[in-house]
Amino acid sequence: MINLGILISGRGSNMDAILAAAKAGRMPGVRPAVVISNKPDAAGLRTASEKYGVKTKIVPPEGAKGWDYDRKVVEALEEAGVTPQNGLVCLAGFMRIISPEFVRHYKARILNIHPALLPSFPGLHAQKQAIEYGVKVSGCTVHFVDEGVDSGPVILQKTIPVMEGDSEETLSARILEQEHQVYPEAVRLFSEGRLKVEGRKVRVL
Ligand code: GAR
Repeated sequence: MINLGILISGRGSNMDAILAAAKAGRMPGVRPAVVISNKPDAAGLRTASEKYGVKTKIVPPEGAKGWDYDRKVVEALEEAGVTPQNGLVCLAGFMRIISPEFVRHYKARILNIHPALLPSFPGLHAQKQAIEYGVKVSGCTVHFVDEGVDSGPVILQKTIPVMEGDSEETLSARILEQEHQVYPEAVRLFSEGRLKVEGRKVRVL
């Protein structure tokens, strides 16, 4: 059984999609253990506890940065049973860059979703970057987290066309629908031991 910890900062719609899939029995090897937010007012915290009965925890930075902050998150994860042996950490709109120490602690056990086709448009406001660049196709990427920003091995991607007249909002909304499909799918594949990382490449077994 994989103990799942989800880190959020806000709305938590990707978290919701993952918890819904778990509740519906679509990832039987996954036990949602805890949802952690750096922001006390993250709407996703209520969704996690009220809709799914999942334990939540707020870990406010209080000025702490890098590993000084991340070690508190690791403590909260481990307290909930999310360990480097049997855990999976999903970043789901967690708006902090995690430290190399965190990444090494949960080696090859941290996933992230990004609202663009990486390696295009990493970082913040990916959908706005895509519109301003003028690309005709965008989408989303689930990837393993490495020590860089949005640079880890790609697990799954979904594409969508960028329409003439798309705004950041309309494009974001269409990408988000795809995110909600692809992130639970990646978690399921991970939990079934079907993701094999070979250098930069992830083979889906
Ligand atoms: C999602 O679109 C996610 O891809 C994005 O933040 C949103 C969070 O929404 N993440 C990033 O931009 C990370 N660089 P959610 O809280 O409703 O899941």
